[in-house]
Amino acid sequence: MDESHAVGGTSDPRGQRRAVVLGGTGFVGRHLVQRLSNMGWEIVVPSRHAARHRDMGLWPSVVLVDMNGPAQSDLATHREAPELAELLEGADLLVNLVGILNESGNDGQGFKRVHIKLAKAALRAAADAGVPRYLHMSALGADEDDGASHYQRTKGKAENWVHRFGRKHDIAVTSFRPSVIFGPGDSFLNRFAGLARLMPGVFPLACAGARFSPVYVGDVTRRYVEAIDDPATFGERYDLCGPHDYSLGELASYAASTSGHPRWVIGLPGWLSRLQARVMEWLPGKPFSRDNLASLQRPNICEPDCRREPSRLEDIAPGYLSTDA
Ligand SMILES: NC(=O)c1ccc[n+]([C@@H]2O[C@H](COP(=O)([O-])OP(=O)(O)OC[C@H]3O[C@@H](n4cnc5c(N)ncnc54)[C@H](OP(=O)(O)O)[C@@H]3O)[C@@H](O)[C@H]2O)c1
Repeated sequence: MDESHAVGGTSDPRGQRRAVVLGGTGFVGRHLVQRLSNMGWEIVVPSRHAARHRDMGLWPSVVLVDMNGPAQSDLATHREAPELAELLEGADLLVNLVGILNESGNDGQGFKRVHIKLAKAALRAAADAGVPRYLHMSALGADEDDGASHYQRTKGKAENWVHRFGRKHDIAVTSFRPSVIFGPGDSFLNRFAGLARLMPGVFPLACAGARFSPVYVGDVTRRYVEAIDDPATFGERYDLCGPHDYSLGELASYAASTSGHPRWVIGLPGWLSRLQARVMEWLPGKPFSRDNLASLQRPNICEPDCRREPSRLEDIAPGYLSTDA
């Protein structure tokens, strides 16, 4: 891609650059929006639940947009996405962090809608508005053809599509493929800590041997902002992993003891894991599902030659898990 693709310029006469961050109200989104705000960007954050995130509207140069009329959740079905096109007018950057771990049904249609259709609608709107730069959130293990779950296949398909579309429409696309992400506000270690509190001594866990390379949210958002103006990242896809690999059992045990509720983690056999997934699909919020179980069948760790991000879990997690924190 040529230099004219560099996105260092701005269409704003005040010199302030503007980003639209989809999924900006989520765990990663909040950390990224904060970082962009500290760097002087104006950040537009559309949300289906703006009232729940009112605090973000008070952050410097953050514009929280309530998409509850023409809902952002409908974005995927509005081919032209006119509401978004309006927000993207004059923007220098679009970031898409929208993703779900579970859908309301079980046939993959929910994942397809949120991961693929929404990404397509957003990027088409960005092309119409002339936005030159797009950062896409995928996931380690995302694979259109060979993914083990609806989650991984739809993430993979969306990733492939945005890169193809970017090449065709002269939008500089970079995608990121993290293993599980930890940091203040995460729903991974915090969930284990919360579950441990409820468990009497033992902690039964499905797929306790599944492998992860947890990566710190601060490292993830740093890679995002470093990529914005770096032409070497245009068109590239990056796996993001922390310095060490752990089993799910080790992580659950670590979260339990660090939060002050040490528990004996017992790995469930396959048949019991499948049963647990079936049962938990019926609980409010679907905390675990057969699709999650399928994702856990593959190691979620980086290739040996992958660049590792520096921050250690053990240096950061006690700061938000520990009862003394
Ligand atoms: N966290 C991890 O460990 C991890 C690991 C690998 C990849 N990722 C990927 O990273 C991204 C961010 O993860 P996260 O942990 O920050 O997720 P999160 O906290 O659940 O946030 C998800 C965001 O997506 C938006 N969203 C959800 N469903 C939507 C829908 N149907 N239509 C429009 N917006 C929707 C939500 O916005 P509103 O509710 O405000 O509208 C929210 O801001 C996701 O794509 C995820 O797959 C995460």
